[in-house]
Amino acid sequence: MGSPWEDKRFAEESLKHIDAAFLPHTPQEVDFIERALGVKPAARILDLGCGAGRHAIELALRGYRVTGIDISPWLLEVARQRAAEAGVDVAFVQGSLADLPKLLDAAVAFDGAIAICESGLGVLGGWRADLAFLQAVKKALKPEGKLILTTFNGLRRYRRWKEGDERFRFVDGLQHWETPPEWEGEPLQEEMRLYIPSEARMLFEMAGFKAVQVCGCAPGHFEGQALQIEDIEMMITGSA
Ligand SMILES: C[S@@+](CC[C@H](N)C(=O)[O-])C[C@H]1O[C@@H](n2cnc3c(N)ncnc32)[C@H](O)[C@@H]1O
Repeated sequence: MGSPWEDKRFAEESLKHIDAAFLPHTPQEVDFIERALGVKPAARILDLGCGAGRHAIELALRGYRVTGIDISPWLLEVARQRAAEAGVDVAFVQGSLADLPKLLDAAVAFDGAIAICESGLGVLGGWRADLAFLQAVKKALKPEGKLILTTFNGLRRYRRWKEGDERFRFVDGLQHWETPPEWEGEPLQEEMRLYIPSEARMLFEMAGFKAVQVCGCAPGHFEGQALQIEDIEMMITGSA
């Protein structure tokens, strides 16, 4: 099963939503990212699942050297145009985060990494693939370099499960998603592995991250606040 993000029309529709709902919150999120990664301008930052580059471009505008990786060629085209309009240089690389080691120059070490808004973990083919991805991110970081990742808070999904709901296989933590009936063209689908906070922490620790923390987050509210059981997303941070 390929990623729906490889479909141009899905990426176009999704970007309309991201631009309307998330783009205006980017400066606040990047303020937090700078503090939480503990980085200063000129540091090298890896943006995993960068989409149209909203964080990558804001970081580059603040003087960081940014590499953005995404599976969607179309979103990367938009990202390149937006970076050019903003007058910044960002290295955008197309590929799946499941193949991260092949996409990076092993000789380049990063000071920090971000993966914001369901942009990798959970959509790579199960927990083993997610673990391999986290191990690859750790390897790409300098010692003590940090990763900030946001993903769905599985607790909310378990609490909302009702008898007969076959879209969430709770035994495996797998959420099935497909395009609605009104979607024109080839139907798209995806299986997403949802994590409860303790599993996410365990996965980070299994990948070798230290000082792992799980907290709450919402668009424009990146503050390291306590996670609430009904939060849609959670943020996991760890140090290489
Ligand atoms: C909800 S968007 C978030 C984009 C961006 N991080 C942001 O906050 O605006 C999720 C992104 O993850 C990317 N993505 C999904 N699966 C991926 C994969 N296997 N490898 C690389 N990127 C992926 C999508 O193309 C999309 O750009």
